[in-house]
Amino acid sequence: MSDAPAALAASEPVDPTTTAAWEALEEHDLVLTGSLREWFAADPERAARFTHDAAELHVDLSKNLITAETVELLLQLAEETGVLARRDALFAGAHINTTEDRAVLHTALRRPRGAQPSLVVDGQDVDADVQEVLGRVSAFARRVRSGEWTGVTGKRIETVVNIGIGGSDLGPVMVYEALKPYAQDGLLARFISNIDPTDAYETTRDLDPETTLVIVASKTFTTLETITNAKLVREWLLTSLAERAGLAEDQRAEAIAKHFVAVSTALDKVAEFGIDTDNAFGFWNWVGGRYSVDSAIGTSLAIVLGPEVFEELLAGFHAIDEHFRTAPAEQNVPLLMGLLNVWNVNFLEAETHAVLPYSQYLHRFPAYLQQLTMESNGKSVRWDGSTVTTETGEIFWGEPGTNGQHAFYQLIHQGTRIIPADFIAFANPAHPLRDGEQDVHELFLANFFAQTKALAFGKTAEEVRAEGTEGALVAAREFSGDRPTTSIIASALTPSVLGQLIGLYEHITFVQGAVWGINSFDQWGVELGKQLAKGLAPAVAGDEDAIAAEDSSTAGLIRYYRAHR
Ligand code: F6P
Repeated sequence: MSDAPAALAASEPVDPTTTAAWEALEEHDLVLTGSLREWFAADPERAARFTHDAAELHVDLSKNLITAETVELLLQLAEETGVLARRDALFAGAHINTTEDRAVLHTALRRPRGAQPSLVVDGQDVDADVQEVLGRVSAFARRVRSGEWTGVTGKRIETVVNIGIGGSDLGPVMVYEALKPYAQDGLLARFISNIDPTDAYETTRDLDPETTLVIVASKTFTTLETITNAKLVREWLLTSLAERAGLAEDQRAEAIAKHFVAVSTALDKVAEFGIDTDNAFGFWNWVGGRYSVDSAIGTSLAIVLGPEVFEELLAGFHAIDEHFRTAPAEQNVPLLMGLLNVWNVNFLEAETHAVLPYSQYLHRFPAYLQQLTMESNGKSVRWDGSTVTTETGEIFWGEPGTNGQHAFYQLIHQGTRIIPADFIAFANPAHPLRDGEQDVHELFLANFFAQTKALAFGKTAEEVRAEGTEGALVAAREFSGDRPTTSIIASALTPSVLGQLIGLYEHITFVQGAVWGINSFDQWGVELGKQLAKGLAPAVAGDEDAIAAEDSSTAGLIRYYRAHR
């Protein structure tokens, strides 16, 4: 058994701008000459030099604006800012989430059963706790999938509705969409997140209450959106069961027990809501919301996709954890990609970062990454409370290719801003369809290869002219190239590969936060809006004194609402 060594507890953050590596990178940035065209021409080994495998992910960094010296200096920066020591503290369960005095142990959620030595943190056998809950989730999932668990009228479950928001929604939705081919026939998942009542209405309106199982997923079980939606759906369920199946008044508690389960760290609040805690699955405060899809928050996935698929997903996460924990720094993909993001943000002045999956199944991946990256690294103070002296979290955004090509790629190709982009693709399609002789997946992948090539190497004025274009049109058709991209390719979008991808971005996010000296695991910034929303309730309900006490803009907007409702 190992316990988190006290020596690993969070140390003082280093101001990265005071390091020798930072100064050297600034200098390097100033004197860096050449272009991707020139660098590739001069070095036939460039692609091989900057391509690395992490578990099953094949990652080509060579089309970024880096040289061997850039990477060397970035690795020195990691060294001087203590990134790897902080990584070790993360895995060991040190309380690196200082503002909440918590360990950060999402990596423990995917340690294999029986891993030795077992992980003991704060006197608690974390491995035993994780396996106990995973076992309960899997057993419950099997009962639902086999039809042994039924609704109150004896019908088997056909739809699982997950009610949650943020990390209690985005992860499950994204994984469900990504792994749809693995869903059990006759079993669907739906998701309700927004407190806009149309979300609950539209999601339930065509559902059969007799075959619906609701999972209320909330780490804190206090989130206004989730608790409100849970009440709306409870009401819908009881009313429609009464109308359609003659549910009697004295069967209501049984109906809730058969149709409502919960996932939370706050099991006392689950009981207060009226859900039987026998049907509740816990997790722990050392799992951040945006890092929780591999905890019991994934119960909807274990049911619809199956516990075996869920365990494969966890194994994929663990494979990347092991890579991040043990691969040498020069080949450590999350480390290199995190450092590359620091290079792009702090030295090349990129403000945004596009994530472009060439897989329709990953259509919710950019949205998922937005919470992971921006809630984690959208910070202006370091973990000791000092103000940062660099830019921090960049804006993540994206859509699947090829759709994005016909929408916003123009700006990436020819706009005035630098937008580093991650391109993600899979060699094998889930559905090998053909258009006559044409393998459509091949056509799709040709776009993936073409885009990164066009962005890197562009098109010179001479090349444009050689095609017969003249005059002012030449400039319009010229592409500068040198638009940085990373290509991530794997054999197929399997559950394990998806776990690897998510884990990769978790660790990239961690590396950036560690360099910047920020706590990537709290989210105080979202609290103010929540508090104000609660405080505004009387004004919104029409209390004139409360409206008058507001600033003139807020008061004016509330009056408009009151007058037009
Ligand atoms: O948006 C703030 C936040 O706390 C997220 O970090 C979290 O994922 C989300 O709200 C939902 O919280 P909970 O799971 O406690 O309902």
